[in-house]
Amino acid sequence: MDTRKMTTIGPGASPPLDVLIMDDDAASAAACRRTLEEDGYCVAVAGDGRQGLQAAESDGPSVVLLDLGIPGVTGFEALARLAEPGSATIPIVMTGDGTVDCAVECMRLGAHDFLMKPVDPEKLLDSVRRGVDLSTLRRQADAPRAKQDLLLQGLDFLGEAYSLGMEKRQLLDELASLEKEAKHRADGLGRTGGKERAIAGIREDLLKADAIMRKYGFRKDALIQTLLDIQETFHWLPRHILGWVSGRLHIPLREIHGIANFYEAFSLEPRGRHSFQVCTGTACHVRGASELLTRVSAALGLQPGQTDSRLTYTLETVHCLGCCALAPVIQVDSEYYRDPDRSRLDTIIKTMQKETQA
Ligand code: FES
Repeated sequence: MDTRKMTTIGPGASPPLDVLIMDDDAASAAACRRTLEEDGYCVAVAGDGRQGLQAAESDGPSVVLLDLGIPGVTGFEALARLAEPGSATIPIVMTGDGTVDCAVECMRLGAHDFLMKPVDPEKLLDSVRRGVDLSTLRRQADAPRAKQDLLLQGLDFLGEAYSLGMEKRQLLDELASLEKEAKHRADGLGRTGGKERAIAGIREDLLKADAIMRKYGFRKDALIQTLLDIQETFHWLPRHILGWVSGRLHIPLREIHGIANFYEAFSLEPRGRHSFQVCTGTACHVRGASELLTRVSAALGLQPGQTDSRLTYTLETVHCLGCCALAPVIQVDSEYYRDPDRSRLDTIIKTMQKETQA
């Protein structure tokens, strides 16, 4: 459950402020505020450009939703001020002007996203979530203490690897592959502070893998059980973990890949914590499986076979779930649903989000 405190609207709202809405259209601002507060965000509204910029400076919100038509300043001027280098506040533009020129100018000035008015609540939440995440990353990178801690964790990891008695050559190979993985993750996390976070994340992953191998006494003949536990922990078999297991158990990586490819229980692609499986078998097909798939795809924002970037949801199609009498049917984790409509799907997804936040 999100424990962030709600603030009252308007000037004088108590920090920490998640979102500042700069919009003189009271109805539009109120609708955005309601959507965001229902999702647990702390929100304030400014109906004037100067007042909004002052609030942004003093309260340091994670995200500013800026209506380009706000009075008191020009929208582009306000955007340029909000997007100044070094700021942890992420500006998101809202406008009724959907021209390409306007969008290009906003992106050039540093807008994180560009939302058309009237703003779609789902798009608003998605954009704000990404903005708040990016703002958090920037703040962490700016905090010398946090940065130092992350670097120290990376050094700890090197020390542990040496103490485990790895040969220097093997260690160098591992470091090279970790470096690659760190870069890969850093690219996904954004340029600021990404690498430090990536190293800390990898170190955590390897310690989890070590704990699993230790449970089986680092035995080669327990490889399948070890991989099953890794699959259960990470929901897939990440390549840096397989490289680590290969080195620690002295089993060639190609042998591990052979096993991972052979058994259906293993996935070499990232999978979300929650699985949505839409049946496209004959009974479901004739009773509207494709419409159901379209609805699920729209609700999750994913195409079949895709997993979201936070590894929360995976959408797949299957040939028969063994309950044809319910057709068309979807299995969500271990539950079956008969032809759920969009609002039922949204409720299922919201419940999952709440459980994740709790
Ligand atoms: S065809 Fe869909 S459950 Fe059997």
